[in-house]
Amino acid sequence: MYSMNQDIDHVLVSEEQLKAKVTELGAQISRDYEGKQLLLVSILKGSVVFMADLMRAITIPCSIDFMVVSSYGGANTTSTGLVKIVKDLDQDLTGKDVLIVEDILDTGITLSHLVPMLKMRNPCSVRLCTILSKPSRRKVEIEPDYVGFEVPDEFVVGYGLDYNEKYRNLPYVGVLKPEVYSK
Ligand code: IMP
Ligand code: MG
Repeated sequence: MYSMNQDIDHVLVSEEQLKAKVTELGAQISRDYEGKQLLLVSILKGSVVFMADLMRAITIPCSIDFMVVSSYGGANTTSTGLVKIVKDLDQDLTGKDVLIVEDILDTGITLSHLVPMLKMRNPCSVRLCTILSKPSRRKVEIEPDYVGFEVPDEFVVGYGLDYNEKYRNLPYVGVLKPEVYSK
């Protein structure tokens, strides 16, 4: 039977490493947000796996919401007009401490647009939690408040991340074999 594992060249972050890190992040977030109105905002679709794990590693009450954004991809632009909200949040942000949950911080362009947009809605705070970060690819100045793993400048799949909408359901983070791209 064909398995997606056959398409993976090498594993970058194992299932065990992810589990341990998410537990650690959940504990830290629980301490940092004690007594606050924590709202986890998952950016679909890539962060859905991390979100599901992270929310269960958080031991304080929190609410969750989801957002779909599409970047117009202007590589050198920093204006806030360039992120289109495809699906907006359901709830009001007034008084909330918002934690954006992301799969990977790559160029940072998407989030550098989104954070100011959310800040305009009167939350108490807006911070950023990402399971993966590729610092070498950064095009704008943006620092995640919580990071799982820094990865090299390679295209990665799994744990929510896709190649052509596939491989999101791999339980680890890996790099595809070169021939998969040329299929
Ligand atoms: P950026 O930080 O604005 O460049 O965009 C980050 C988004 O690009 C992520 O949320 C992913 O959907 C996608 N992305 C960036 N790098 C990768 C990768 O290595 N594999 C899969 N998706 C990626
Ligand atoms: Mg994607």
